Amino acid sequence: MKPWRRGWPLRSVATLIAMSLFYYAVLAILESFHQIHDDHAVYNTVVNSRLDGLPSLALLNLRINASRTFKYRHLKSSESSREQGRGVKSIVRSRNLNSGISKLNNTETEKNTSSPYLGCRDITEIQVLGKVGRGYTKTVQNGQYQGMEVALKSVQPDNKDISECVKSPMVRRSVDECFIFAKYKLAKEIIMLQQLQHANIVKLLGFCWQNELNDIDVKTRGLTMVTELGTRLDVITLIQLPWHERFRICVSLARLLDYLSNSPIGSLIIRDFKLSQFVMVNGDIKLTDFDDVDNEEPKCLTNRDCLVSGSKRNKTFPCHQGRCNGVLSAKNLFNAGRNFINHILVPGGPEHLKAYLREIKNNVQRLSWDSGTFARHMEKVHSLLRSGEHLETLPKLNFYKQVAKGDFPNLHDYNCAETRVFGACELAVYSVKEAKYMCDLDRSCKAFVMTSNVLWSGYLIVYLKNGTSNLQPNEHTTVYIKYPT
Ligand SMILES: Nc1ncnc2c1ncn2[C@@H]1O[C@H](COP(=O)(O)OP(=O)(O)OP(=O)(O)O)[C@@H](O)[C@H]1O
Ligand SMILES: [Mg+2]
Repeated sequence: MKPWRRGWPLRSVATLIAMSLFYYAVLAILESFHQIHDDHAVYNTVVNSRLDGLPSLALLNLRINASRTFKYRHLKSSESSREQGRGVKSIVRSRNLNSGISKLNNTETEKNTSSPYLGCRDITEIQVLGKVGRGYTKTVQNGQYQGMEVALKSVQPDNKDISECVKSPMVRRSVDECFIFAKYKLAKEIIMLQQLQHANIVKLLGFCWQNELNDIDVKTRGLTMVTELGTRLDVITLIQLPWHERFRICVSLARLLDYLSNSPIGSLIIRDFKLSQFVMVNGDIKLTDFDDVDNEEPKCLTNRDCLVSGSKRNKTFPCHQGRCNGVLSAKNLFNAGRNFINHILVPGGPEHLKAYLREIKNNVQRLSWDSGTFARHMEKVHSLLRSGEHLETLPKLNFYKQVAKGDFPNLHDYNCAETRVFGACELAVYSVKEAKYMCDLDRSCKAFVMTSNVLWSGYLIVYLKNGTSNLQPNEHTTVYIKYPT
């Protein structure tokens, strides 16, 4: 056999492999083109459908005129309509839509005196002081408006939603294209906050959509939202808070979740339930992030499609007209349990309420209660706490000598089991009677100083002391000395 003939089987195999590799490479390139095209198509459809109702400035006048005509026609037709209820509802809806559009595109230079919200002109007057928070989509700055501290939310190029979208290897998108979806999320938040009002939802103060620019400068940037300013809530701070403050957070969450379950825009779920979606404002917790809040109950065919997994057991909800009823509310409650209630409700709670608090925690973990039942139980604990009922059956107390306007400033402090702070025995008590009881229970306690500091729950701050020497005057405090000491 000739040398070249000797190698032919090997060469043919190599050619075959090379051809197949080439074939797969072509297929892969075609596939990825297809994917990019699909991704673009999906992206455009999503953006376009979501931005429906939030037109570009060019379309704005057309839309407003069209919607005016629609409203006028609708009013006329509804007058003659026999379906009165439906007609009225639709008018309200069309009015809301109209005002939503005009406010969102508030390009006016004059202050809108009829609007309860700050407009573009007011917002450009805000003195921006710094940055207080940054999430995936939005950046939050603090500022001052006429002496009032406010928070400004906007989308910035360094928010991951933008930077990752621009860098995406799959689809080439311009910065402006990437901003559209992120700004949609902020616009959604504005619209939702206009419709939701609750003590534990951050208050919307104003908004401005003046152009499509994505500037950092508040004076020229496209979309800005202004709310009341809060402070960040992290897990370490949360678990270190004294029980009364932690309990306040639990009561507030119970009220908030009950409101969200029955909100004016349906039962709402906080999809991305985490601590950073909340801020503290004057000692109370408030929900601040609404871009992942929606009212879409899951679709279902049977009850089995409506399963919610809890940490202690799972629960099935009824499938009604193709939707799982109550699942959103149950998920909120479960997440509130996982992020807050399970860690902060029981530890350090008053002895006489501990069993009840544990029962509440377990029912939340087992998904046994809905948000309404949870809220009712939390209100009951709250009223028990405020009633002072637990003091009615106290044993006979020691005698205490009262010294009005007396104090032991930075003296005789010690750490006790129930203290609210480190380095002193600071307690929250219902009354002087409870302070005496606490001092009686503690062998180290020789006296206590009652302050006039009142907590949100009506409880008073008291300092137990392990000595009685060096009594000093103080207008605002009263000393009680245990006898026999
Ligand atoms: N009113 C406010 N006052 C002070 N800080 C705030 C306020 N609102 C939000 N923040 C802070 O800014 C951060 C980002 O805000 P927000 O949660 O609205 O942005 P996001 O991009 O949606 O975040 P995420 O990616 O977590 O969903 C929050 O985690 C919070 O710490
Ligand atoms: Mg968010």
